[in-house]
Amino acid sequence: MRLKKTALAVAGAGLALTLAACGQNAAAPSNPAPSGGTAPAAGGVKVGVILPETDSSARWEGFDKPLITKAMQAQGLAADVQNAQGDVQKFSTLADGMIASGVKVLVIASIDGDSGAAVAAKAKAQGIPVIDYDRLNLGGSSEYYVSFDNEKVGSLQGQGLAQALKGKAGAQVIEIEGAPTDNTATLFYNGQQSVLKPLYTAGTLKLVRSQPIEKWDNQIGGQTFEQILTANGQKVDGVVAANDGLAGAIITVLQKYSLNGKVPVTGQDATADGLQAILRGDQYMTVFKPINEEADATAKLAAALAKGDKAAADAIATGSVQDTKANRTVKSVLLTPQLITKDKVKTVIDAGFVKASEVCVAATQPACDQLGIK
Ligand code: BGC
Repeated sequence: MRLKKTALAVAGAGLALTLAACGQNAAAPSNPAPSGGTAPAAGGVKVGVILPETDSSARWEGFDKPLITKAMQAQGLAADVQNAQGDVQKFSTLADGMIASGVKVLVIASIDGDSGAAVAAKAKAQGIPVIDYDRLNLGGSSEYYVSFDNEKVGSLQGQGLAQALKGKAGAQVIEIEGAPTDNTATLFYNGQQSVLKPLYTAGTLKLVRSQPIEKWDNQIGGQTFEQILTANGQKVDGVVAANDGLAGAIITVLQKYSLNGKVPVTGQDATADGLQAILRGDQYMTVFKPINEEADATAKLAAALAKGDKAAADAIATGSVQDTKANRTVKSVLLTPQLITKDKVKTVIDAGFVKASEVCVAATQPACDQLGIK
């Protein structure tokens, strides 16, 4: 077992109180779409889509939901896209409802691998093909998986931090990781370590502590970071934050100790908040994952599966990943992530992923002008 799991057990007791006190994340997107009761688009073959949370990242409601809806429509499919709001029971109930309503395909981005695998098994028993979306359910039975090269995401984070700390011998690093039950979080961690572990071993960098955060809870992530920081005498030189939501919570803590802008922080998802933090100099990098490509591939796969055309589906899912728990190979579409540092923020805007008006605000306007972002 790797170190971070042990660390979690130790920190767990101290965090129980804070966890009980706050059910919501501070970094929730400002305009979450209404949850529940979303009617599927009129016409077309029905496809059910269940997203995991709103609070772990701005991506699910801000990008995935609208992009999946649009991509499905383009394939002549009527997607019913729901969000389980981090509630495993709700996830399962939503799936039951979709199965009962006669969806031809079920697409799931699960809260955790076990409950996701259970839902996939139920759908399979009814003859409904399941696509694991973004997060692979280890020990599951879904025939297809659409995501990014997630180890690559992690290695880009590791590279970003190593680059930012170059020349700072013995720089002290704190790692705030994603949910231990989310397989992608494990892959991000593995990718990061492929770059950072040799540097820790050589003494080039020094690991203070690595800590996974249940459900990717941003608020808990910030609190956990603060505890580690103060226990280390308020000393930190660099932070691995597994996504932009966690990075935002960490930057808030760094601001409190007047360390923001001096300590490079990583991120992921290329959210408007993350890009703003990069332009302000508070965050060093993020990882851009073009979710429109993920949504398009999923919709094309769903269209083939809805027709029962396995050959067409296999022609789309030309990659594969290994489910180490079920000991099986899962046919996959694995898209390419991109490293975004300040000089590359424009790429994300030019791709139409985030609007210039969402990142160029008073505090970032000088950087936007300098980088030609408009
Ligand atoms: C996704 C990330 C996201 C995180 C938290 C991961 O499974 O791949 O994009 O930031 O979950 O929602």
